[in-house]
Amino acid sequence: MAPTPRAPIIEALRKYIANGTVRFHMPGHKGGIRNSVLTEFLGNEVFAADVTNVPGLDDLHQAHGVIKEAQDLAARTFGAEYTYFLVNGSSCGLQALVTAVCNPGDRILVPRNLHRSILSGIILSGAVPAFFLPEYDYNYGIPLGTLAETIQKSLAQNPDTKAVLLVNPTYHGVTSNISVIAEIVHNHNIPLLVDEAHGPHLGFHEDLPPSSLRQGADAVVHGTHKILTAFTQASMLHLQGNLINRQRLEAALKLLQSTSTSYLLLASLDAARADMDINGKQLLRNCLELSRYLRENIRKCAGLAVFEEEMTGRPGVFGLDPIKITISVKELEITGIIAEQWLRDHFDIQVEMSDLFNLLLIVGPGNSREDADCFLKALETMIKAGLRNLQDNSIHKIMNSITLMPDIPELVVSPREAFFSQAVSLPLREAVGRICSETVACYPPGIPIICPGEIISKDIADYLVLVRDAGVHMQGCSDPSLQNILVVKE
Ligand SMILES: Cc1ncc(COP(=O)(O)O)c(C=O)c1O
Repeated sequence: MAPTPRAPIIEALRKYIANGTVRFHMPGHKGGIRNSVLTEFLGNEVFAADVTNVPGLDDLHQAHGVIKEAQDLAARTFGAEYTYFLVNGSSCGLQALVTAVCNPGDRILVPRNLHRSILSGIILSGAVPAFFLPEYDYNYGIPLGTLAETIQKSLAQNPDTKAVLLVNPTYHGVTSNISVIAEIVHNHNIPLLVDEAHGPHLGFHEDLPPSSLRQGADAVVHGTHKILTAFTQASMLHLQGNLINRQRLEAALKLLQSTSTSYLLLASLDAARADMDINGKQLLRNCLELSRYLRENIRKCAGLAVFEEEMTGRPGVFGLDPIKITISVKELEITGIIAEQWLRDHFDIQVEMSDLFNLLLIVGPGNSREDADCFLKALETMIKAGLRNLQDNSIHKIMNSITLMPDIPELVVSPREAFFSQAVSLPLREAVGRICSETVACYPPGIPIICPGEIISKDIADYLVLVRDAGVHMQGCSDPSLQNILVVKE
């Protein structure tokens, strides 16, 4: 395929700006007002390009002009039959997919480590989730990929399932065997949906795992802004095959996306695709070289460990995206959270994420060798500083508590019903036997312990107390100290 230098949305914007059209249309800034605080900060150009659906441009909800052309080019680049641009993040693509494939009461198979936007899609659509567990690495305390056998077993247990959704790659870059899973799912004549928010670059270089689309997934959501060069919130949804009703999906997208579509976001998607066509392989070669350099040097640092490609082949690690670098700081007897803060305070370095044991880096096309050297110098200095905030026995206490993670609790009402029910806050121990109306998660294990609609068993309450008292930072719950939990009012 010959690279295309075309970027239809950007071309249309240039033309509109060059015309010098007198603007009596939205937005109110009319292309930029002098002396505005934001104009002073960002310059005038950005305002000139901030238009919405005017003649000469297009309408995302009824794309027929430059947006359609740009989406068609993206479909060709990413290997889809149809591509939809998303201006409300990957979240809205995932919500639209769940809404498109599930009627109220329909079952969908989802991983327990799902992103909360999928749970939002389940609440919006009234779908009923059947959860499966991904594999797990207890040393790093991170969820891995999903085994094909897990999907096979879950489908046998839930024969009425309407769709299967996977996260591939995981936040930490671990991939699953999508080809085999797609075959299993298609044998049930239902679609495989993939949250590939962290993998829009997969398949663009031989040293990267293949993309889910190439391996037979029916629908894939890409966080184009997360790894490639689009603006934050700009994502894509790709579709192929005939297992998903396209009209229904388009209706769901209309339901969820803004009608005042930002052309800055759309232009950034058009440009990110063009960058991949023109220069994608070189951009990724640079990222891969930089991550190799970082990995080699981090591995040499005493007290640090890196989740490596050597893990590939063990259960749950079909492949690894090397540009995601998971660094365990556990041996230094500090938490990842303290390490993240130290790097920010002393070197102005901001990592993607930290948890109790790890730091997570994403190496992107915008990173340079100077960035890598700055990070390595910072690590060296941090190790020399000899910080300590985690005693060895507390690490073991936390590790033990993760391995005691109870089974997925019983779902007794749909997440939608739990969401719309009146909730009351109860002390944890008093909540045993009640229906939970919120999600409680922490890193590690990075897998929600309880979700809306599930029964709080004694085992679950004991586990929540265990991780809470071990000092793990709780996420998503109404009471961050987890003394209390929200339950459905009886
Ligand atoms: C795995 C995964 N899926 C979906 C999303 C949602 O993406 P967005 O922030 O673009 O809405 C995220 C966000 O971090 C994510 O990590």
